Amino acid sequence: KKPGKFYNEPLLDFAVKADREKMLKALAEAKASLPVNVNIVINNKELQSGKIFDRVNPSQSDQIVGKIQMATTEQAEQAMQAAQTAYKTWKNVPCEQRAALVDKLADIMTRDRFKLIATQVLEVGKPWAEADGDIGEAIDFCRYYARHMRELQKPLRVGGLPGELSHYIYKSRGVTAVIAPWNFPLAILAGMVTAAAVAGNTVVMKPAEQSTVVAWGLMKMIQEAGFPQGVINFLPGYGEEVGEYIVNHKYTTTIAFTGSKAVGLHIMNRAAVVQPGQQHVKRCIIEMGGKNAVIIDNDADLDEAVDGVIYSAFGFSGQKCSAASRVIVLDEVYDRFVDRLVETAKSIEIHPAENPKAYMGPVVDKEAYDRILGTIAEAEKNHKLLFKGSVPGGGFFAPPTIFGDVPGDAKLAQAEIFGPVVAVIRAKNLDQALDIANSTEYALTGGVFSRSPANINRVKEELEVGNLYVNRGITGAMVDRHPFGGFKMSGIGSKTGGPDYLKQYMEPACVTENT
Ligand code: SER
Repeated sequence: KKPGKFYNEPLLDFAVKADREKMLKALAEAKASLPVNVNIVINNKELQSGKIFDRVNPSQSDQIVGKIQMATTEQAEQAMQAAQTAYKTWKNVPCEQRAALVDKLADIMTRDRFKLIATQVLEVGKPWAEADGDIGEAIDFCRYYARHMRELQKPLRVGGLPGELSHYIYKSRGVTAVIAPWNFPLAILAGMVTAAAVAGNTVVMKPAEQSTVVAWGLMKMIQEAGFPQGVINFLPGYGEEVGEYIVNHKYTTTIAFTGSKAVGLHIMNRAAVVQPGQQHVKRCIIEMGGKNAVIIDNDADLDEAVDGVIYSAFGFSGQKCSAASRVIVLDEVYDRFVDRLVETAKSIEIHPAENPKAYMGPVVDKEAYDRILGTIAEAEKNHKLLFKGSVPGGGFFAPPTIFGDVPGDAKLAQAEIFGPVVAVIRAKNLDQALDIANSTEYALTGGVFSRSPANINRVKEELEVGNLYVNRGITGAMVDRHPFGGFKMSGIGSKTGGPDYLKQYMEPACVTENT
């Protein structure tokens, strides 16, 4: 390794017996300690509310994995006060010390990797390798942001007039409200929290209800790393109560949110309302959904295309904002592609997530399950069903489902589903394929399988997406290699794991001195 260069944390390979055995042991230990009692943490002190939410294992819905103390709005106020007080000192802690704490957090994650995977398998139903990817990404975010902050703290000399010395620098903003999703329960939460903190801000973090046990694990590691009290506070609770409270609060300067379009836009709206005593314009770093398309060109390598589409559509049961939910296939190759896609889909192994054979596990909870099954039932009335998998019982298993000849403007081809459901759309030619692809309100990920350089170039120029993938699947962005995030209704263009991300948590300032 070259010193100073960023490297992605390598993924585990569960085909290696030693790693497989460590994973089985970690799962057995994690199961033996259920349910996990999760408390609120403010100023590094654990608090309870007496309002308990029982989180169940989506692979086995009679198993309670967490008993969560759901914070009250009074506790949300305490967390905001703690973060505001801690900010007065944290902002002056030298960057190197802040970055070292974030690096230490990455080291702890690396040490506890198997345990962290086990928690995700049991709490959100992620198959092993998917959960491992999430831990790897969390480690990468910590190291990338720590490293980048060390670069950004160096004042940039601007101008050059004799007698004048000007520097461009970055300063922290203040209290940051972090509101996180459950689908990348460690990576996205840790990414937003460490970006805020390493930049000199203090944090109130509200995890998604469905992944609070994972988030509790993060809070414990933050405490072990040695962050001073009040710098990062942990506020498990309901979005409508404490999420709303911290968004509205006068001390909040920045809101980092990843989740649905409806909630993201609601947050933007609320953040625009100035509260009495508020001193900052709130900045929203908002990442929302997608309706991601893969275009299959006439000359595509179909083996590659089928593999890429299957994994992008059904990996983690389609519950990635990057997941493929539309496949736009050129007419000439449509029948051949669809036959192969369906044949391959038949081989998808669906099991409880703790089973190492699970290619697909459950969806996250009953609400998601009911919604996805409702979507499939409605689509069966209107569209041609090509494939619907069979699923085990005992948990929230939604079948992998493929519809064919779906019109590009149908609801099934326009609304985000966030489940294992794919609409295959027929296009006359590349012009029409691009029109269809760009016809949704989202612009997150997208892809093309083609062997024609001219067609690939057209897609590069014309497909409206934040992350375009050529001749590969469209999920699994890696920190540094693929800065991730979309625009249009997918978000405001913040790119996690990229060179502009940290800057959003800071204020640029210019200091000019007469010399
Ligand atoms: N970063 C994830 C991916 O690329 C989605 O959030 O799949």
